[in-house]
Amino acid sequence: MISVINNGKIKLIPDRKPSELTQITYLRISITDRCNLKCFYCRPEEHDFVPREEILSYEDMTRLVKALKKYGLKTVRITGGEPLLRQDLDKFIRMIKDVGIEDIALTTNAITLKKHAKALKEAGLTRLNISIDSLKPDLFYQITKGHLKDVIEGIEEAKKYGIEPIKINAVIIRNLNEKEALDFVEFGRKYGLEVRFIEMMPIGQGYIDWKKEMVEPLERVKNMIEEKYGKLVPTTSVGSGAARVYLIPSINTKVGFITPITNPFCDGCSKLRLTVEGNIKLCLRTDEEIVAKDVLKYGSDEELENFIEKVLVAKEISNQNIQFNDYAFGECRRIMTSIGG
Ligand code: 5AD
Repeated sequence: MISVINNGKIKLIPDRKPSELTQITYLRISITDRCNLKCFYCRPEEHDFVPREEILSYEDMTRLVKALKKYGLKTVRITGGEPLLRQDLDKFIRMIKDVGIEDIALTTNAITLKKHAKALKEAGLTRLNISIDSLKPDLFYQITKGHLKDVIEGIEEAKKYGIEPIKINAVIIRNLNEKEALDFVEFGRKYGLEVRFIEMMPIGQGYIDWKKEMVEPLERVKNMIEEKYGKLVPTTSVGSGAARVYLIPSINTKVGFITPITNPFCDGCSKLRLTVEGNIKLCLRTDEEIVAKDVLKYGSDEELENFIEKVLVAKEISNQNIQFNDYAFGECRRIMTSIGG
């Protein structure tokens, strides 16, 4: 019997077929929960890692990718923890390519990107998102306990090998880095990158708790940018997903705004996440998960297909619950290092 687990509570998935309209276009795969940074909103002081022997193999992950293609899968995003810490990532990218996925993206903190950029490009990575919350080395260290210099060198190396597009994710936190928004715009202009500003979400648990006072509504950041550079023009960009993207015509640079708090974007979500231990996570806001490991490891193709149809039904229900606001933010307690954004 396939069921949804949510913090120990179990819900059965109704016995019906999914709607033919339900699609999964986007899968985020967390390939490791290890990370070489310690961002205050992402990792608690102490936490356990998934034991190595319980981490899903690349083969099992690829099996899910292949099976989801029939249901509309177009994009696979690889996340962590920090995905560059797992061995043979280039091999995994090739495996996903080989089952016919053309859009393969990576979200990384770029601390070790310099070492990996060439192999990633050669393996066929099509897009790169890099998390940077401050361009001031001291504040960057305060937030992450890592060194900004490594990230910049990583970006330069990725550009050298022609990995494109590269986007920057900057979580904006009031009274901490919101005044840096204009510096981020200049950074985007200098390196030819799109910077995406993100509102801080009450998800997971870091070593400092989320407070609503930390949220800087991004409308203010947008106004600040417009004051300096003139009116922003709505546009799009490859794989913009949840971001509202604008062009700053005066400097020919794009910026994006991801506003889960002040302007949520859950309508018609067709995204799933696969956790490092092989659970399908239905929604970032809650801990609802479906164990996929056994069917990926031991199931026949037919069993896997039946399983996916159940997942689609569960996703339909999860989307309805979001729409009717059944899930408040804060229900997701799985820590962010083991979700990967
Ligand atoms: N709120 C908003 N963004 C977050 N990220 C991690 N935790 C949060 C949060 N609580 C972002 C990271 C990274 C991406 C994977 O998710 O900064 O850019």
